[in-house]
Amino acid sequence: MNSETAQRIHRQDYTPPPFLVDSVELDVHFNAGEVLVSSQLQLRRNPAAAAQPAPLQLDGQGLETISLAIDGTPLGADDYRCTSSTLTIDNPPDALTLTTQVRIDPDNNSSLSGLYRSKDGYFTQCEAQGFRRITWFPDRPDIMSRYQVTLHADKASLPVLLANGNPAGSGDQGNGRHWAKWEDPFAKPCYLFALVAARLDVLRDEFTTSSGRSVQLAVFVEPGKLDQCAHAVDALQRAMRWDEEVFGLECDLDHYMIVAVGDFNMGAMENKGLNVFNTKYVLARADTATDADYQNIDRVVAHEYFHNWTGNRVTCRDWFQLSLKEGLTVYRDQEFGADMHSRAVTRIREVRALRAMQFPEDAGPMAHPVRPDSYIEINNFYTSTVYDKGAEVVRMIETLIGKEAFRRGMDLYFERHDGQAVTCDDFVAAMADASGVDLTQFKRWYDQAGTPHLWASGHYDEQARTYTLTLSQSLLASATAANAEALQSPLHTPFHIPVAVGLNGAHGEDMPLMIAGEGSAAGSGRTTRVLSLTEFEQQFVFEELPAAPVVSLLRDFSAPVILDFSWSDEELAHLLAHDSDPFNRWEAGQRLASRLILAAAEDLSVGRPAYWPQSFVEAAARLLEHASDDPAFAAEALTLPGEATLAEEMTVVDPSALHDARNGLRRFVAEQLGNALLHCYTTHADDAPYQATPAAAGRRALRNVCLSYLGELHSDEARALAMRQFESADNMTDQFAALATLAQDDCQERVLALASFYERWHDEALVVDKWLSVQAASRLPDTLAVVRGLLEHPAFDLRNPNKVYALLNTFGNNHVRFHAADGSGYHFLATQIGELDRLNPQVAARLARRFDRWRKFDEPRQQQASFALEKLHSLAGLSPDVREIVGRALEH
Ligand code: TRP
Ligand code: ZN
Repeated sequence: MNSETAQRIHRQDYTPPPFLVDSVELDVHFNAGEVLVSSQLQLRRNPAAAAQPAPLQLDGQGLETISLAIDGTPLGADDYRCTSSTLTIDNPPDALTLTTQVRIDPDNNSSLSGLYRSKDGYFTQCEAQGFRRITWFPDRPDIMSRYQVTLHADKASLPVLLANGNPAGSGDQGNGRHWAKWEDPFAKPCYLFALVAARLDVLRDEFTTSSGRSVQLAVFVEPGKLDQCAHAVDALQRAMRWDEEVFGLECDLDHYMIVAVGDFNMGAMENKGLNVFNTKYVLARADTATDADYQNIDRVVAHEYFHNWTGNRVTCRDWFQLSLKEGLTVYRDQEFGADMHSRAVTRIREVRALRAMQFPEDAGPMAHPVRPDSYIEINNFYTSTVYDKGAEVVRMIETLIGKEAFRRGMDLYFERHDGQAVTCDDFVAAMADASGVDLTQFKRWYDQAGTPHLWASGHYDEQARTYTLTLSQSLLASATAANAEALQSPLHTPFHIPVAVGLNGAHGEDMPLMIAGEGSAAGSGRTTRVLSLTEFEQQFVFEELPAAPVVSLLRDFSAPVILDFSWSDEELAHLLAHDSDPFNRWEAGQRLASRLILAAAEDLSVGRPAYWPQSFVEAAARLLEHASDDPAFAAEALTLPGEATLAEEMTVVDPSALHDARNGLRRFVAEQLGNALLHCYTTHADDAPYQATPAAAGRRALRNVCLSYLGELHSDEARALAMRQFESADNMTDQFAALATLAQDDCQERVLALASFYERWHDEALVVDKWLSVQAASRLPDTLAVVRGLLEHPAFDLRNPNKVYALLNTFGNNHVRFHAADGSGYHFLATQIGELDRLNPQVAARLARRFDRWRKFDEPRQQQASFALEKLHSLAGLSPDVREIVGRALEH
């Protein structure tokens, strides 16, 4: 489809499909230089469709049609109309067998959508609309069919032949070829179709479900990588058990397969019984993968497994409902992560990511509701909003109705909709019906883009012993503008926001939470209460308080909003030291740091020196002192907010002042607390060999934060320390952390470490990705030149998404270097996006998102960015994918 014909699709235009497909029989022949796909579809008119008999329309892309027949009779030229993307049959019978044969060319499919060739064989990716690149089909998720698939291929080069479901026969065909047949017992939408024909090694295991059924597990990987599969298998088994225990959901399959492939656009794909994974989320060995990698593997393996119920058994009616499966499944994988690791640290990391990615998205040109209203290219809407804000929305429902009611809601959702393709409304209805809570107003979270602002103020009345909390909300960033406009606009209705609140006493103890008019029973025993904010402004009066409290608001980040409350620095220090809610302890530290960095950035940008108060150092010293209580938490608390997150709080971003301010504070802490940092580093060393446990990972995280602070000193001692760790580490976490610290420092050790790292790891693709990204993330002034040079390095490959993400996306996230004043970063990235678009539009469009916030910068930078974007936009043959992203960036 070229850009001129790319159409905008609207959610409101949904109509049920005129025809259903009951069954699909595919025969796929892998020949030299081509693949032939024969398909037999059993179709019938949809009883639920409009009374007007509509024609039968099928989707196709890049198909060379060889033959077409209905009920065995070849179609004549007048019986159908065919374009490059549609096959229309005007007067079909009400029930029919449609037989088609097409030729496709997976060897030259660099988009990694549909059927494509990777190093070790052939793989598929059908979500969202890749199935149409394999055969003619009504490619939409509300058509669910039973599939039988037979693969035929050369036995020596493609020994492994897989498809969804259960094996239903295999054998030799003579002349070196073999075949295998698979049958999926569950009806599914075509986006969950998968097949694999490749040369792969396999690790097999087993899982016995709670009802005693045995499930055969298999993980397929590139030959020679079996020693990197154990963690993925373990994660899968833990996820299967967890879903039984927490949600009562059992695996419904006899065979559950995971296939890892090095060329993959995203993280992984939940194809029924045959998940296809980016190698990045399968392969791990202590010396090649970091603690973060291990945890990501846990999460992605669990995520895809959880989709089997939330996505596959109950799927989406249309792609606007994407968050129905993605938001809910992210929520589920987050809960799994919280149960496997530290709940508090897991939550902190998720909120950090949300603020770094989703908040900017929601404030930029690609802002869209969790359930979008329209799109041009659906692949552009696999976003942090749909996934992560969608998960926050599910979490808010859980917070509002309570854990038990939430579980009843899930049960009811499956009871009502198993085997169906449904909408977000259906999910919310199940939650409302199971809990008795009216969620009508809450649904605004699905329909309205933008991050709401929440303003809070408090007043303690000594006489009455009451604390009055006033909460107000608006989508607009300033309180005064909010009140004026909000009250006038009938469209601007308030959100239903759960605000979890605690009150801290002078010694950090939780004070009683009794709300006026409720009677003491309601609040006396609880240390946190969830207030329902449903109006633009509401007051809550807490009674029987002997002294003024320090209020702890939005505990555990109970809603994805921007909270404004004027805590004094002393109050924040108090919360950081004492709040019983660990999330808000962390949050208080982040607020303190943000305040200082933003003020310093302002100073630096007008040529004034930055000011760093001793009180911040004292707070950091206390964290170090108590770090052994919870090293992973201490590591998070010592990590300053990132530049992209901080930039959102500036009216006009000065990236170099911001960068210098943030690093200035890091350096100040290092100068003041050098000994304490070194002590913490030393005392948390592990004598035991590497273990991927949360406790050991927490100690490593803490030590590596200390090391990175020490690196700010640019001293010989710090460099030697990092070099020693780099050379002696028995695991990738420590080795890479040392490399990352050195990569920020212009010294000889940096050069040596980078060279020796590549020398050692050049054969491990995923480790080479780390080597690329650590260079692209460097703050050193020659980073763009280095990145340019790496484009020509044998380690880089524009056709491989992991390499593109590692080098180019990392550079795009390098705030100070990408936003260089002379526009060099912009022009570089725009050129690369244009090149990549010809190979892989999906990944090019993802890369183009790095331009989202260009309007937040000063005039000269804006000029450079718009120039680069205009040039990209005007490229002949630009994909609809990139065109949509760049078009929006230029419009808004
Ligand atoms: N559904 C996948 C998930 O689990 C997302 C995904 C994988 C995807 N590959 C894709 C989406 C390619 C679009 C295109 O989140
Ligand atoms: Zn998903």
